[in-house]
Amino acid sequence: MPTSTPSGLIEQIQALKRTQNAVILAHNYQPGPIQDLADYVGDSLAMARWAQASAAQRLVVAGVYFMAETAAILCPDKEVLIPDPEAGCSLAESITPAQLTAWKSQHPDAVVVSYVNTSAEIKALSDYCCTSANAVAVAQSIPAEREILFLPDFFLGSHVARMSGRTNIRVWLGECHVHAAIDPDALTAQVARYPDAEVLIHPECGCTTRSLALPAAGIATRVLSTDGMIAHTRASSANTFIIATEIGLLHRLRRQNPDKHFIAAQQEARCPFMNMISLEKIHETLLSGRHRVTVPRPIRERALLPLQRMVNAAPS
Ligand code: 13P
Ligand code: SF4
Repeated sequence: MPTSTPSGLIEQIQALKRTQNAVILAHNYQPGPIQDLADYVGDSLAMARWAQASAAQRLVVAGVYFMAETAAILCPDKEVLIPDPEAGCSLAESITPAQLTAWKSQHPDAVVVSYVNTSAEIKALSDYCCTSANAVAVAQSIPAEREILFLPDFFLGSHVARMSGRTNIRVWLGECHVHAAIDPDALTAQVARYPDAEVLIHPECGCTTRSLALPAAGIATRVLSTDGMIAHTRASSANTFIIATEIGLLHRLRRQNPDKHFIAAQQEARCPFMNMISLEKIHETLLSGRHRVTVPRPIRERALLPLQRMVNAAPS
């Protein structure tokens, strides 16, 4: 069937979804046309919750591979498809199961808290999972005397240690290459250009440390997950916001707040993995049923408890 015009393609995707009892779950960093088409758009925590709550039998995850694996672990009876299985994540790649096993053996009494941006094998070796939306709450729920191994994101782990006040958190030295590359000087330059703007920073950002000095200079600054930014910008009386995260989020922010202004801290902050998903690939995966994501049973069963703890933890 010809799929040349985007509107024709979108109509065909909608028709396939209806006949297949399928839904599309999209992450906040997805390209605008995919966000507009999706049944749900949200952060990693919302996507996991929607996957579990959905009555649909087929879930198309418009996001990266670990998000589809998360849905497959939480919903083993549903068919989870990813339009491009090569859509990985540099942060998830920054720790291997062998490295985590060795780290755990050095700290046998520690509690392992893994960010959701990890492979299923890493989740299976963990006690808790979290997202950027509830990482602080998860850390605070662990008895104060227990040491925590937090992985794999160094900047998020440092934020959790700061916000929870815990001194017994060891943090893995991993990073997301997109967020780590948001240049503190670029952020400072945007703050100088828009002195009345509120500054919203994702905790994976390398510029988070520099931003700690902004409130003392009278700049309203918050460290938030992507859905945290959505909620905050809707409620805030401010008119202009500087956004330090992947630029796909700006689409949703602008759509939900047409009268407000959103400035990227750095326009080049674009995740190549998120942008591997396209309308054409969504159409093709619905047509063919290809790229089903499954997790081997022993790994799935071990990863379920830490992931369910993440789903149950309220945003911090
Ligand atoms: P959220 O936790 O806000 O979804 O963003 C994390 C991220 O980088 C997803 O890849
Ligand atoms: Fe992974 Fe970073 Fe892309 Fe998020 S933005 S999917 S953490 S590489």
